[in-house]
Amino acid sequence: MLEAILLVGGQGTRLRPLTISTPKPMLPVAGYACTEHQIARAKEAGVERIVLGTSYRAEVFEEYFGHGEKFGIEIIYAVESEPLGTGGAIRNAASHLISSGEDPVIVFNGDVLTGLDISALVQKWRTADADVALYLTRVEDPRAYGLVPTDADGRVIEFREKPTTPEELVTDQINAGCYIFKRSVIDQIPSDRPVSVERETFPELLSSNAKVIGVVDDGYWLDLGTPLAFAKGSADLVRGIAPSPLLKGRTGEALIEPTAKVDSSALITGGTYIGHHAIVGANAIITGSVIFADVEVGTDTQIKNSIVSTGANISSGCEIVDTVIAERAQIGAGVKLEPGTLVFPDESR
Ligand code: GDD
Ligand code: MG
Repeated sequence: MLEAILLVGGQGTRLRPLTISTPKPMLPVAGYACTEHQIARAKEAGVERIVLGTSYRAEVFEEYFGHGEKFGIEIIYAVESEPLGTGGAIRNAASHLISSGEDPVIVFNGDVLTGLDISALVQKWRTADADVALYLTRVEDPRAYGLVPTDADGRVIEFREKPTTPEELVTDQINAGCYIFKRSVIDQIPSDRPVSVERETFPELLSSNAKVIGVVDDGYWLDLGTPLAFAKGSADLVRGIAPSPLLKGRTGEALIEPTAKVDSSALITGGTYIGHHAIVGANAIITGSVIFADVEVGTDTQIKNSIVSTGANISSGCEIVDTVIAERAQIGAGVKLEPGTLVFPDESR
């Protein structure tokens, strides 16, 4: 039976104020929690059991996913009372796995949107008889990620998490946040303290000569860690640029929930998502944005590449670009917000 661990315990600090009450992996991208897209993709790849490694606001996941009945996959929860870091979370979640010894265990970061062929990665891990296979992608600016140079045979040479000096920028290949572990390798991670898989486990495996391979995949990849990335990820899903089994046959310039009321003169485009019971007034223009449930957008208001959270109210004639508006915030008529503005819950502008 193919099993996976999904790491969803991070605080999502860079997505505040959206993550004040909702953990990052539960924020809706294109109408579904990011985690839900990942579970659907794992299921498509033949995964039958998933352990969610939770810490920050653990209860929210269980309320939503239950034991996975609705999703056709068994879901189990490994809750950390104190965050154990990525490696500690993997070790903690592994105690709920059935797999043993040489079996593969798939591990995903919970905040990544990808078109990775998971089965192909497992196959490469198997063929190489690797201890760990890392999914890698190439990015223009690798500084915010784990740098993973490989040799001509695909063996990982080094793992360098978030380099701080220019000399360290030895490659544009980064850790894309999905790994195949041999089950027995996970059991070697210390269980009694926080461990970073990136800063501790991978470097140690490499120095002990374990077989760690890197598989570069140039398909769709996006880390949803920042508000702008989050809006882009949602728009890419809506437009079908990022793949998700949950949106098959429903992709296009906009995804509007049937309970939303959008005036026929409003222009909703660029992969915008409009949530349940939202109201959009006449001549509004909304591009590349995520509009959560119960939001009201007034007439003639323009919103671009922004996130408007549940129950927020934006009056008429506003200009909102590259902005995050938290739940229940109120924006008065004619307000123009500077790009990059964060409006907190219950705040008025
Ligand atoms: N259960 C649990 N407990 N999960 C955690 C913890 C923890 O203590 N800390 C982080 N996580 C989860 C996060 O929720 C996220 O899904 C994943 O682990 C990675 O943590 P992030 O905080 O998002 O890390 P990052 O984005 O800075 O860097 C990671 O992802 C990059 C790719 O997106 C690293 O793995 C980098 O090497 C990688 O390049
Ligand atoms: Mg991240």
